[in-house]
Amino acid sequence: MVDEHYRIARKEDHEVFPCTWYAIGWARELKDKPIKKRLLGRDLVLFRDQQGTAHALHAYCPHRGADLSLGRCDGGLLECAYHAWSFDGTGKCLDIPAHPGRTIPAFANTKSYPLIESIGLLWIYPMTRDQLESEPEPLKLINPVLENQDYVMAPYDTVWQAHLTRVVESVLDVAHVPIVHNKTIGKKSPKEITIEFEADDNHIRIRNGGGILHYDFPQQWLLTPVKTEGSQFINFVTFTPIEQEVTAIYGLAGRNFAKFPGMNYVFSRYSSKVLKEDQGIVESQHPRPIPDALRMEAHVPADGPQVRFRQRWYQFLTSDEPRIVVSEAKA
Ligand code: FES
Ligand SMILES: [Fe+2]
Repeated sequence: MVDEHYRIARKEDHEVFPCTWYAIGWARELKDKPIKKRLLGRDLVLFRDQQGTAHALHAYCPHRGADLSLGRCDGGLLECAYHAWSFDGTGKCLDIPAHPGRTIPAFANTKSYPLIESIGLLWIYPMTRDQLESEPEPLKLINPVLENQDYVMAPYDTVWQAHLTRVVESVLDVAHVPIVHNKTIGKKSPKEITIEFEADDNHIRIRNGGGILHYDFPQQWLLTPVKTEGSQFINFVTFTPIEQEVTAIYGLAGRNFAKFPGMNYVFSRYSSKVLKEDQGIVESQHPRPIPDALRMEAHVPADGPQVRFRQRWYQFLTSDEPRIVVSEAKA
């Protein structure tokens, strides 16, 4: 019998990720000084212009490769710390102080990446503007409730030494909750479960006690309460491949009660604690990405949502969906 989920692994499959908007940091981190960030093996420099609009450029100066995050923001431009060449948000070089009267050649320009701010996060589309034929599709948040001003959002973040696929599966996994989280969110959860979930193309929805877990392929996850009245707690997480086997997690724990901002600390800390309980386990998983065919790990009914995710990931690997290769950046 042919196993429709079996596929022949190609080496490069472990190096590709869906090409989409990834959160790279908090908007509040980026003030009047440039900062350096990494995404999919690429080093980027982020800065704000005079209007406060954030921009992302390739991190190293086209002149002699100095790290542009050592430079400064001046008059809306990013000025390199070495010879003070200045760049605008599109990467165009507008000043070479050593030759003020001379026409600036095109090779003095650097590369820029699309960047947007949404829900307090800076999101990057991981292709340079010169690689893109048009502006990328806008970021579609998993649920507009995230922009609902009724909720106070407590931010938290972490970085795990794990492949994106393993990290995503950990938040689709209901059976581990009473085991790994037996001191926190899983204290009252029964070990025996009947999994209830539905899935379509890019979305998986799992009923879990009083909550519903939503997942949008490839990078967004949201927990909402089943009840629609009274005190409510939501939790949003987004996943960002920093390297092939390093994934950043940015979270927003939202509440429509106890709204004074001083309480944010408590909610952020609790969410971080829960993630910490998962971290050691997920970082221990081998093979590092999920294996290349369904038959290569053992599945039981409780793993239904993860099996569904694997099918979607294999579909991504075997189709012509937009992809980005981590190692390209090393070139
Ligand atoms: S290295 Fe940046 S201006 Fe020379
Ligand atoms: Fe967990």
